[in-house]
Amino acid sequence: MQIEWLEVVTNKEVAHNIFELTLKGKMVSNMNRSGQFLHIKMKDPSLVLRRPISIASIDDETCTLLYRVVGKGTLEMTEWQPGDLVDTLGPLGNGFHLDFLKREEEVCIIGGGIGVAPLYELGKEVHARGNKITFILGFANADDIYYLEEFKQLGAVIVCTDDGSAGLKGHVGVALDQVNPTAVFACGPTPLLQLVQSHFSHLEHVYLSLEERMACGIGACYGCDTKDKKKRVCSDGPVFQKDEVMV
Ligand code: FES
Repeated sequence: MQIEWLEVVTNKEVAHNIFELTLKGKMVSNMNRSGQFLHIKMKDPSLVLRRPISIASIDDETCTLLYRVVGKGTLEMTEWQPGDLVDTLGPLGNGFHLDFLKREEEVCIIGGGIGVAPLYELGKEVHARGNKITFILGFANADDIYYLEEFKQLGAVIVCTDDGSAGLKGHVGVALDQVNPTAVFACGPTPLLQLVQSHFSHLEHVYLSLEERMACGIGACYGCDTKDKKKRVCSDGPVFQKDEVMV
């Protein structure tokens, strides 16, 4: 973990209110696992807390973040231009562990909304191991879909939208009976994680990445406790084996 001023390479909207921010700096060489996040400071001094943003892709000299514009901080981020420097703490958190994964395992990767973002780097890592992957990706509507072509390069993709404007109508639950995996990874809002946890309760290898508001991001403030108060999402997670946490 380190603080570094990362340089903005690109910053552009890729779907409705979803932006892709590519950053470069020495820190990228310490990013070696999907599911970790960066804790980013806004330039507006009135926005004191850093914003946790998951890492969507790790490449040779750059990393890519996908963020949804939800408030003042993320609105400020949309104004950042190539060459701007960004005060960044990271990489933080425990990401997805893949050591258990044997080549023959069928993997299902499930995400919803902005929770789809870290699953792209995860998908790249699982794909590089040669495993068969089915992605189940949920969005509010067709305008909110991002990275569809990128995910299709890595495996089969089932898209679900709340209003039925693309793919299956409904949340990701409508697609779960279409897959029979031996390992499952998921990231998204709490109802999605609860659904995955119960639907795949018979499987050992089910890993959930929790979304939580954070202050310090390094396990010091206890502001991101899990529901049972036994774990801190920022430092013990954000990725947990399904039986480790109450979601
Ligand atoms: Fe402070 Fe997690 S955000 S302990």
